[in-house]
Amino acid sequence: MVVTRTPLIAGNWKMNLDHLQAVAFVQKLHWTLKDAKFEGNDVELAVFPPFTDIRSVQTLIDADKIPFSLGAQDISSHDSGAYTGEISGLFLSKLKCGYVIIGHSERRDYHNESDEIVAAKTKAAIKHGVVPVICVGETAEDLEKHGASAVPVAQLRVALEGLDKAADIVVAYEPVWAIGSGQAATPAQAQDVCKALRAVIAEMLGDDAAARTRVLYGGSVKSTNIAAFMREPDVDGALVGGASLIVDEFAAIARFPSHVGV
Ligand code: PGA
Repeated sequence: MVVTRTPLIAGNWKMNLDHLQAVAFVQKLHWTLKDAKFEGNDVELAVFPPFTDIRSVQTLIDADKIPFSLGAQDISSHDSGAYTGEISGLFLSKLKCGYVIIGHSERRDYHNESDEIVAAKTKAAIKHGVVPVICVGETAEDLEKHGASAVPVAQLRVALEGLDKAADIVVAYEPVWAIGSGQAATPAQAQDVCKALRAVIAEMLGDDAAARTRVLYGGSVKSTNIAAFMREPDVDGALVGGASLIVDEFAAIARFPSHVGV
């Protein structure tokens, strides 16, 4: 069975752009891509604004029929209740958030999110029909001690434990040392780990899930290196931080098939 996976270019804005800036940014990105005849058919583009921007961005996307997907940067593992500051997956699904980033290394590091919390949040997202973008990745120290794939593979195993085989998920391999550092992994390194992660999906959720699930690379992705990553068979897109905040740069990343002949 040949399954084609639509590449996903995901922009993680982190804590940048207020709701007014977000609206202006999405409009500008849309015009830029429209001028370049980007229809969103061959490549899926998704933006992940801060929570306070989501309603405004969703309204704009809906009203202007902009071919972008929308996601959040975090989710509570609980549905509702006395969890001050948390955001339920129910609220995200009502805002038509298709995706949610879970277990980004910044949350694992600064907010002590364990593999078990990541697993609980993954289940919460799936329960509410929001596709989890499960982030895994090794630190520079892990890389030195255990090689590249050991930690991401172990993290993914915990996140996938007990999931339904039909679950719709995205996995993002983000080496911590490559995030915001300007030092991206090589395409071969990204391929090795993405392949190992796909093998975990096959083992835990079956071959069909492994064939259809998109595995992204993230960490210092730019318009000048995206093509090389996308040529790798197990890299199905990118989770982009810094470069997703620059309209022309992010538009060029989303248009990788036209400028590189992939
Ligand atoms: P970066 O961030 O592209 O700025 O390295 C990636 C991420 O944190 O998702």
